[in-house]
Amino acid sequence: MSKIEITYTSDCFSDSAQQLSNKLERPIRTDESSPYDYLLTISESGLSLIPSADKGYGSIQCDFAGGTHAHRRRFGGGNGQSIAKAVGVSGKFLPRVLDLTAGMGGDAFVLASLGCHVTMLERNPIVHSLLADGVERAVNNAQHGFVRDGSAGDTELGDIMARMTLIEANSAAYLEQGPDHPVAPADVVYLDPMFPERKKSAKVKKEMQAFHALVGSDLDADKLLALALKVANYRVVVKRPAGANHLADRKPSYSLEGKSTRYDIYTLKKLPS
Ligand SMILES: C[S@@+](CC[C@H](N)C(=O)[O-])C[C@H]1O[C@@H](n2cnc3c(N)ncnc32)[C@H](O)[C@@H]1O
Repeated sequence: MSKIEITYTSDCFSDSAQQLSNKLERPIRTDESSPYDYLLTISESGLSLIPSADKGYGSIQCDFAGGTHAHRRRFGGGNGQSIAKAVGVSGKFLPRVLDLTAGMGGDAFVLASLGCHVTMLERNPIVHSLLADGVERAVNNAQHGFVRDGSAGDTELGDIMARMTLIEANSAAYLEQGPDHPVAPADVVYLDPMFPERKKSAKVKKEMQAFHALVGSDLDADKLLALALKVANYRVVVKRPAGANHLADRKPSYSLEGKSTRYDIYTLKKLPS
């Protein structure tokens, strides 16, 4: 198991650090000289996962208000993006999406930016903490106008975040809870399980390497497809690396192929038009 410790940059974060330490059952760092694999650091800019220098990975933080998310929100191509086509987003239909493998919420954020309501499920407690922190900061930024680059509050971001709901759970257990625990409405179920890492290439971003090292491979993903097909109203969409096998070796109705990514679409019913 990786050695992960919690640090904070100012005394005002000591309570939050203690809460995180209790929740994740990871210690607060006391010996600055002891070796570690990762630090989970709380600072003015939120929660970050920082790998030890010898790993050569980049650090990870969830930042919906800035960086690549903000850029893609503005210039990503709207409903013309492959993910939008795969999920079936159109001017006439905004599916309610159940994302069974939320990760850092990137795909969910794109879909929510396009107008979909997205329920995100994440089972890894550290990934969930990073994502929950990202959601909370984005909501705060949108509400209070506290945006790091000094710009005013962002009502559009507030609307997007209001369409995103995060649940910490194993999706398989969540879907199998039974009639007393209704599942979130799911026109489309979305799946993007971790794929066994291919040989390290420059194409794999440094932060993705850290994420992969932390989460590992989702070797139980085949089971999720069968469960997803039971709850989706219209379709199940599975994101795979280009050239990868089909999940559970089950042939999709059709696929959308990109340079590095493929979307496998399992249709159940025609989308409303
Ligand atoms: C490749 S990442 C998803 C990336 C995400 N689509 C994004 O854009 O950031 C896969 C994530 O799914 C989570 N996951 C895998 N199987 C799961 C399950 N059965 N229940 C909940 N989360 C799961 C993993 O912990 C990991 O964080």
